[in-house]
Amino acid sequence: MPRSVLVTGGARGLGLEIARMFAAAGDAVAVTYRKGEVPDGLLGVRCDVTEEKEVAAALAEVREAHGPVEVLVSNAGIIDIGLLPRVREEDFYRVLDTNLGGAFRVAKAVSRDMIRMRRGRMIFISSVAGFKGTAGQTGYAASKAGLIGFSRSLAREVAKRGITVNVVAPGLLDTDMTTDVPQSARDQILAEVPLGRTARLEEVAATAVWLASDLAGAVTGAVIPVDGGGSMGY
Ligand SMILES: NC(=O)c1ccc[n+]([C@@H]2O[C@H](COP(=O)([O-])OP(=O)(O)OC[C@H]3O[C@@H](n4cnc5c(N)ncnc54)[C@H](OP(=O)(O)O)[C@@H]3O)[C@@H](O)[C@H]2O)c1
Repeated sequence: MPRSVLVTGGARGLGLEIARMFAAAGDAVAVTYRKGEVPDGLLGVRCDVTEEKEVAAALAEVREAHGPVEVLVSNAGIIDIGLLPRVREEDFYRVLDTNLGGAFRVAKAVSRDMIRMRRGRMIFISSVAGFKGTAGQTGYAASKAGLIGFSRSLAREVAKRGITVNVVAPGLLDTDMTTDVPQSARDQILAEVPLGRTARLEEVAATAVWLASDLAGAVTGAVIPVDGGGSMGY
């Protein structure tokens, strides 16, 4: 039986790579998107994760098509770059509301079915910025650090219901989110990475797929950096 998998923000970037890897393994995969096209082989459900009603409607659509969500990958996220004195309050809260608030809304919505089924996997895409910190990313890093406390608390809440909750923390990736990162900043990041390179999208996706596998059944409350070793020791 294919599992019902939901990847938020799964129509492009890292989310798409994750969605494709689950689909290739035989799962029934739904992805949230806000506009544009959804690649073949995936069920697209329109949803802005900052809107509780849209999250509820998207979940109902997935349940109707694929059954209750058994694997959630909470991946949708945005970044706002700027030094603190220049960060507008509305932008700070927009990042928190999308990255942390969105994860809260979607996790809450899927948790009811998972608790009833007494099984489920939740995987939250954080960032090494959440524990290492990154200049110019106070709001983003706060949201990604928040995901760690959120997931670990949830992991404790639902462990006895057969549900695992884990975090994947990538370093710099090659997606739309980072197209504006100048080469000088990339070089600076890479200089601190023992492997001398950051992860490919499929390496991050494979970590999420593994966390949702039977063999990862004893892993919960973990935070797994996939970043070439750049955050080692944090
Ligand atoms: N790129 C990196 O270097 C890096 C490093 C560490 C962690 N991450 C994390 O990886 C995740 C994926 O990022 P990415 O690199 O793939 O960036 P991306 O290409 O910019 O994709 C961002 C995704 O988030 C979705 N999204 C944004 N706001 C949303 C909202 N309000 N409601 C629903 N979906 C929303 C977008 O959906 P639409 O298609 O609807 O716009 C898109 O699918 C993020 O959580 C990011 O923080 C990225």
